[in-house]
Amino acid sequence: MSTEEAQACMCSKVPVDSIQKAAAVAKKASTPTAPSAPSSTVPSTPTASPKGSRSGPEEQRLQGHWLLAKMGKRVLRPGGMEMTRRILGQAKPTAADRIVEFGPGVGKTAELLLAVHPSKYWGVDVRDDTDNPLLAVLSHHKDAELVNADAKNTGLEDGCATLVVGEAMLTMQSDKDKLAIMREAYRLLAPGGRYALHEMGFKSDAPSQATGSVEKNLSRTIKVGARPLTMTGWTELLSEAGFDVSYSTTNKMALLEVRRIISDEGLGGFLRFVLNVARNPAARKRVLAMRQTFKKNQKFICAVGFVAEKPASAR
Ligand SMILES: C[S@@+](CC[C@H](N)C(=O)[O-])C[C@H]1O[C@@H](n2cnc3c(N)ncnc32)[C@H](O)[C@@H]1O
Repeated sequence: MSTEEAQACMCSKVPVDSIQKAAAVAKKASTPTAPSAPSSTVPSTPTASPKGSRSGPEEQRLQGHWLLAKMGKRVLRPGGMEMTRRILGQAKPTAADRIVEFGPGVGKTAELLLAVHPSKYWGVDVRDDTDNPLLAVLSHHKDAELVNADAKNTGLEDGCATLVVGEAMLTMQSDKDKLAIMREAYRLLAPGGRYALHEMGFKSDAPSQATGSVEKNLSRTIKVGARPLTMTGWTELLSEAGFDVSYSTTNKMALLEVRRIISDEGLGGFLRFVLNVARNPAARKRVLAMRQTFKKNQKFICAVGFVAEKPASAR
C-alpha cells in the first residue's frame, strides 16, 4: 500500500502523525519479511457464509463485518464503543443479571458484559467457527456459553433473561425478521427486563426517495442486506413487539474513520488492522470501497441506540 493509498484509506480529519505511522507500518508490512498477524485476531471464514459467487479470493466474497473481523477489527457496530458504553450505562448490567447477547460477533461487548460477572450469559450467534476470539472471551467465565442459533428462535426458555443486548445484527434483517427477533427478545425477558440495542439508522432528514438507493449501495458493498430504519421506525417496531422505549441516542456512523478505529481498537489494534489490510490487495480494495460508500452516504445514515423495557406488568 502506498502512502497515498494508506491516506486515502483513512479519514481526512485524522491526526497527521497517525496517518504517517499507519502508512509507515503499512509500507513495512508489504515487504516479504513482515510477520504474520496473530491468528487469534484473524478468524477463519464463518460457516454462515455469504451467498453469491464462490470464485475469487475469499476477501471479495465475505460479508463486510467478517472481512473487517478477518483483518483484526473487533468492534463491528456503527456507533462504536462510545455509543455501546452510553447504551450500557443506561441498561446498567449487574452481577444479578441473566444476559442474552444476540450476534456477539468477536466478543467485544461480551467482554464488557462479563466484566460485571452476571449470573448467566448466553451469546446467540448463527456463526459457529472454532477460532472465533469470542470463544476465548467466554472461556474465562464459567457461566457463559455460546448458543449456535438464529436470534429469531434461540431455543432458550421463556423469561430466562433480565437483559438482552444486540448490536449491528438487526439492520441486516428484513423488517419482518427484525420484528421476529425483537419478539424473541421479549419472550426471553422476564417482566421488567431490558433490551439494549445499537443499530444503523436513517437520519430524520434523509429524504425518503434516497433511502432505497442508500440501502442498495450499502448492501452491494458490504455484501449483506443493509436496511436501516429512522428513529421513529425503530421505535415503532419496538412498540409493536411489546416494548416501552426508555432511552434513545444517536451517534455518527464512522465505522471506518481513523479517529473512530483508534478509539475503538486502540492504537495497536488500529495499526494491526492497517497492516493486515495493506498486505492483502483483495481486502484492501473491499475496505476502501466500504469506506468510500459509508462516506458517500454519511449525510443520510447514523448509528442509533435504544434501551427498551418489557413492562413489569407483562406476563
Ligand atoms: C455486524 S456483526 C456485529 C457483531 C457485534 N455485535 C459488534 O457489534 O461488534 C453481526 C453479528 O450478528 C450475527 N448475526 C447475524 N444475523 C443473526 C441472526 N439472525 N441470529 C443471530 N446472530 C446473527 C453475525 O453472525 C455477527 O456475529
